Amino acid sequence: MLKVQIINGPNLNLLGMREPEIYGNSSFESFLEELRKSYPNVEIGYFQSNVEGFLIDKLQEVGFSCDGIILNGGAYTHTSVALQDAVRSLKAPVVEVHISNVFQREEFRHHSYLSPVCKGVICGFGMDSYRLALEALIAGRK
Ligand code: DQA
Repeated sequence: MLKVQIINGPNLNLLGMREPEIYGNSSFESFLEELRKSYPNVEIGYFQSNVEGFLIDKLQEVGFSCDGIILNGGAYTHTSVALQDAVRSLKAPVVEVHISNVFQREEFRHHSYLSPVCKGVICGFGMDSYRLALEALIAGRK
């Protein structure tokens, strides 16, 4: 069984409530329930934190044993050298995801500290960005 970990950064606990015109109306928990049903052969772990260090702790905890990580670093994507260092240290491939198309938004969202150390990047497809990242990790294992 493939083991994939989803890690969501700051403010992503507010999905469904936060700027719904950008991030949609559904909570991550309800999306995750559907995702798990659609991929019964994948063990999908989920972790969210608003704290940079806790995200790093989780990356280090799972990054040497799971088959892949789907990481939405939220705003830390655009600021965190520490997250970049964490991702570059891991064995598991990491896919960077964003719900919104960050390139259609403010200039400060155009730069990512994570992209250079991730296997790939998926953004702009709403919650479906996570499913597409999962598909990419599954395809990468074949
Ligand atoms: C986001 C995009 C980031 O710029 C923003 O800070 C977020 C969410 C996205 O999923 O679209 O918190 O990562």
